[in-house]
Amino acid sequence: MRLDKFICHHTGISRADAKRVLKQEMVTVDEAVIKDPGFKVTDDMDVELEGRPLGAVKPRYFMLNKVANTLCSTIDEEYPSVLSYMDLPNTKGLHIAGRLDVDTTGLVLITDDGQWSHQITSPKKACMKRYRAWLAEPLVADAEKQFAEGVQLHNELELTKPAILERISDTEVLLSISEGKYHQVKRMFAAMDNKVMQLHREQIGEIALDPDLEEGEWRELTDAEINSVWQK
Ligand code: URA
Repeated sequence: MRLDKFICHHTGISRADAKRVLKQEMVTVDEAVIKDPGFKVTDDMDVELEGRPLGAVKPRYFMLNKVANTLCSTIDEEYPSVLSYMDLPNTKGLHIAGRLDVDTTGLVLITDDGQWSHQITSPKKACMKRYRAWLAEPLVADAEKQFAEGVQLHNELELTKPAILERISDTEVLLSISEGKYHQVKRMFAAMDNKVMQLHREQIGEIALDPDLEEGEWRELTDAEINSVWQK
């Protein structure tokens, strides 16, 4: 991994700030000052920022199959936080990469790596999310076309970005979107005078919900899943 990216990963600072600390000779690799942001860091190297070792604590990455009536927030409010399902010794520092509504179930990604979750949540990265939705009313005939062209959400200036709708039946669909506006899927169907009765997230980018995970269960991400979010 490039040294500037390595620093961002382990400190949460921006790429520009990482370059700045390198320029200011604040970073050593195996005790030698390195200023080159593109220097390749390997697993066996000791990287220090102002004498503080980086990388001693590896970032953590998990997927969880969210239960309905749980909150994608790290603070417990009316409903329990999804993190309360994770019997980890230390959930401090973990955050959710792309929240779901209280009543939505399915794939939630959890990490303490801010740069990694940025790849998923930043509108600029246009990360695809796939949802299965069950609807109150039969879908209109041209729903696929409307979603491909973009629909007008209430209180938004612009049309939604092109989305892919797959019809399983007239009231069950798969919808892939690359945006993450507030209540986006529910609002997209509301724009068609329909209503989402149940919503389940199946995939984020290339990471699919593991079918072996029962509701409320979680597991660590594999290296392939972790690496998949970095754009090639
Ligand atoms: N869109 C919604 O409307 N709700 C969610 O939880 C996720 C996407």
